[in-house]
Amino acid sequence: MTLKTQYWQVNPTCPEKEIIIKAANLIKAQELVAFPTETVYGLGAAAFQTQAVEKIFMAKGRPEANPLLLHLSRMEQVESVAKEIPPVAEMLMERFWPGPLSIILSARETVPAIVRGGKTTVGLRMPAHPVALALIDQTGPLAAPSANLSGRPSPVNAEDVKADLDGKIAAVLDAGRTGLGLESTIIDFTSRGCRILRQGGITVEELEEATGMAIAINDRGQEQYHHYQTNSQLLLCQTWEEIENSLADIKHAKKKLALVYTYVEKKNARWESLKDKYPQHQSYDLDISSASNRLYSLLREAEEREFELLLFTPLPEKPGGIGRVILDRIYQAARGSSK
Ligand code: TXA
Ligand code: MG
Repeated sequence: MTLKTQYWQVNPTCPEKEIIIKAANLIKAQELVAFPTETVYGLGAAAFQTQAVEKIFMAKGRPEANPLLLHLSRMEQVESVAKEIPPVAEMLMERFWPGPLSIILSARETVPAIVRGGKTTVGLRMPAHPVALALIDQTGPLAAPSANLSGRPSPVNAEDVKADLDGKIAAVLDAGRTGLGLESTIIDFTSRGCRILRQGGITVEELEEATGMAIAINDRGQEQYHHYQTNSQLLLCQTWEEIENSLADIKHAKKKLALVYTYVEKKNARWESLKDKYPQHQSYDLDISSASNRLYSLLREAEEREFELLLFTPLPEKPGGIGRVILDRIYQAARGSSK
């Protein structure tokens, strides 16, 4: 069934009340509404309405066993969905909420199984975006994944949401580009100690500083799901020689390709000479030290321009902070694209 998706512009810092009420009414009528957060756009449904939550899985083509994050707007809501709140988890909520940190706790049975993906746990997040908070204030907790088709790059603006979900959801609250352009960090308190399941907007350094302990990062390399895929294939070259060799090979194969240069600080002379040597290829610069990341936009744009291959120059070694998160996304996208 095709819906006529409504697109509503909304003021990102001071959302118009009447637009929030219209969106909240759709949510209460068990429809799906995409909304901005500080990380990426989310696709919201009333968390306690099983039929509404089912629509998320259908619209995205998301596997049923993949749980959804519960988006909250007030601290009091935590107790109604979490069984126990370890003191360290509570401290992190106080410190980083609202903000890009999702916390996995053991769930109360009041949380529908469909939200939990059948698990006994639930992921909680309080987004730092006035539109998201205003909406959740009107509707109560929202179950919300990123507002993309399953396996695609997360959307950083309303156009990305439209490209994936037009005709499949009731409305989109359009507040322009999201600030961070990367998803929240997910930290799990339900196995021994705590561990990071997905790196994201709150860095490992910040979490270790706040807790005073070393925190393990789970490697998503073996995960069953593929993420951030488009029709372009990503090729990560380890050395500058490798990229030159690849360029020579590809010339014979006549693939339409773009070069992607990721850097932390200054540009590198090898990159400048590579661009000079192959002026026929489109090239993209990706500053991975920037908190406002454009990796997902780059992936979507390259796909739209029908680049079959994205050839990455050697990635910066062991960057800290947000750079490490962006490298994680590049590895994930490359893993998916070569399957
Ligand atoms: O920044 C974000 O987190 C965005 C915005 C919209 O809030 N949301 C987001 O949701 O990225 P989603 O569904 O695309 O990714 C959430 C990830 C999924 O990989 C899911 O498997 C994991 O969180 N997750 C959710 N609940 C979980 C749970 N109870 N246990 C383990 N992993 C969980
Ligand atoms: Mg997602």
